[in-house]
Amino acid sequence: MKRIHKLFMAAVLSMGLAACAGSSAPETPAAEPEETETPAESTVEETTAGTENEQGKVLVVYFSATGTTKDIAEKIAAIENADLYEIKAAQEYTSEDLDWNDSDSRTTHEQNDPSVRPEIGSEPVSLEGYTTVYIGYPIWWGEEPRIMDTFVESCNFDGITMIPFCTSGSSGIGRSGTNLAENAGSGNWLDGQRFGAGTASEEIQSWIDSLK
Ligand SMILES: Cc1cc2nc3c(=O)[nH]c(=O)nc-3n(C[C@H](O)[C@H](O)[C@H](O)COP(=O)(O)O)c2cc1C
Repeated sequence: MKRIHKLFMAAVLSMGLAACAGSSAPETPAAEPEETETPAESTVEETTAGTENEQGKVLVVYFSATGTTKDIAEKIAAIENADLYEIKAAQEYTSEDLDWNDSDSRTTHEQNDPSVRPEIGSEPVSLEGYTTVYIGYPIWWGEEPRIMDTFVESCNFDGITMIPFCTSGSSGIGRSGTNLAENAGSGNWLDGQRFGAGTASEEIQSWIDSLK
């Protein structure tokens, strides 16, 4: 009986290896019949036909409430010839939600409680074949937005080099990269990098070069 249970758990775990994120349980994409998958609905944007660079396939995952991190993510993807995946909140953040001056705003509540896990609305992403994942987000109250924890906790990053990056008004990356690595519990996490709004591609390129 124990052996059957072990085999069942191994099968379940291996099914969950490559897929992560999304509003539904990880089994959703694996269980979908192929013909129902419409490429137009996929939230992974393949930036070019060939997405493999010298280290293997690269994915840039990002969450961006007001577009600043998105801009950096797109620049990284262009430099790295990488695919892009946007983490979207199931319940989009309004400007009231983002008001850090309001002690009663949604983000204030979320950031004050490290156990909050806002739901993700984007389709789950498959990490199959990716060897490097850049993972970007804005700094909220000195840390990663809680939705980033929702994402990393839904993934298995075994065998993947994880590279955090963030944008902020002025704060550094702080503990956010370490928090994500701890919550993910898998992946080879490198030190992260903070960028200011509108950082030029040349500066981003120098950072990427320094990683190699
Ligand atoms: C709720 C909230 C909290 C923030 N907290 C910080 C902070 O602690 N330090 C900082 O430098 N910037 C902070 N910011 C500014 C954002 O980090 C910055 O504007 C970021 O580039 C926005 O990225 P996005 O456009 O991709 O959402 C905060 C913004 C919001 C909405």
